[in-house]
Amino acid sequence: MAAQPTPADKFSFGLWTVGWTARDPFGEATREALDPVEAVNRLAELGAYGITFHDDDLIPFGSDDTAREQHISRFRKALEETGLVVPMVTTNLFTHPVFKDGGFTSNDRDVRRFALRKVLRNIDLAAELGAQTFVMWGGREGAEYDAAKDIRAALDRYREAVDLLAEYVIDRGYGLKFAIEPKPNEPRGDILLPTVGHALAFINELAHPELVGLNPEVGHEQMAGLNYMHGIAQALWAGKLFHLDLNGQRGIKYDQDLVFGHGDLLNSFALVDLLENGGPQGGPAYTGPRHFDYKPSRTEDYTGVWASAAANMRTYLLLKERAAAFRADPEVREALAASKVGELSTPTLNPGETYAELLADRSAFEELDVDAVAARGFGFVRLNQLAVEHLLGAR
Ligand code: GCO
Ligand code: MN
Ligand code: MN
Repeated sequence: MAAQPTPADKFSFGLWTVGWTARDPFGEATREALDPVEAVNRLAELGAYGITFHDDDLIPFGSDDTAREQHISRFRKALEETGLVVPMVTTNLFTHPVFKDGGFTSNDRDVRRFALRKVLRNIDLAAELGAQTFVMWGGREGAEYDAAKDIRAALDRYREAVDLLAEYVIDRGYGLKFAIEPKPNEPRGDILLPTVGHALAFINELAHPELVGLNPEVGHEQMAGLNYMHGIAQALWAGKLFHLDLNGQRGIKYDQDLVFGHGDLLNSFALVDLLENGGPQGGPAYTGPRHFDYKPSRTEDYTGVWASAAANMRTYLLLKERAAAFRADPEVREALAASKVGELSTPTLNPGETYAELLADRSAFEELDVDAVAARGFGFVRLNQLAVEHLLGAR
């Protein structure tokens, strides 16, 4: 069975995940508030390496400077005592009523200026704590009514905001990078930058695209009916996988934030296989934090909260172990070859071949036995069954 998690596995959790008191639109909180210091201690005991937070998770909105410093110094002390790090920080631009029409893209300019100030202050804190990544999840950047939001103007304002923040980070020499987190809806009816693809296209329009990448979340892509592993693969292909949010989601519905693997387990297996074995030489394709953004279900007490935190890491490690067994199985290697999975990496043209040469190649067209090629099976189902059997521990 998989080893206990250790800091070398780079597992991190949002303070707002284990700290969620389970208030939802239909009911009151079912758990008492969690002290951030306890969160640090418990996560360290469980084998995590990092903790992340929104400004307001650590420093309640509206705290004066003295209270703010106290919250930060208690937290910092717990970090020093446990060795837990803060690889990522993010800003809450969604809870306070002032952000009801968004932060960077509110129709109200006063709100946009306030949002920028809130983020700039939090970037200073992120740098102070040694974070490498600054996540931007624009949950309120969106609309319910088509006539109420000029989408092109909203994208202009979004770009204006990100460009300003990038300029600030460069001028201060912070070395922070930004990661945009797409989500299709919830809390807004429609959120701007709803998918990995939309966010990638947006990044190309920025003044400093090199400083901005993605933080794709399992459930968010799946809420849009999309394949998360494909989204991660495209983000890797574009050199934009700066961070990621792991959790579980069962189909196209509200954001469930289940434990990682408690949704689409097969896709989670493919994801872990990609992250751990998808590098050019077969090693990891991603070396950043394995960050969990889940919600311990409302039915759980604190015993259940810590069990669910451990479950995220254990599921990841079990999938990593299963993926390694899958890759090492000679029958899998043979099935991969029979399915020509590796052949896709061979360029379609010969080295240096021109279109004139392709046009002159009669074997590619005039003389190709198209019916014989069309009759060949790929054997993808057999390959997938091998994956399922490894996942089930049957091989
Ligand atoms: C959500 C999001 C958030 C963000 C977080 C960090 O659906 O609520 O996933 O949890 O990840 O705000 O930016
Ligand atoms: Mn989410
Ligand atoms: Mn998230």
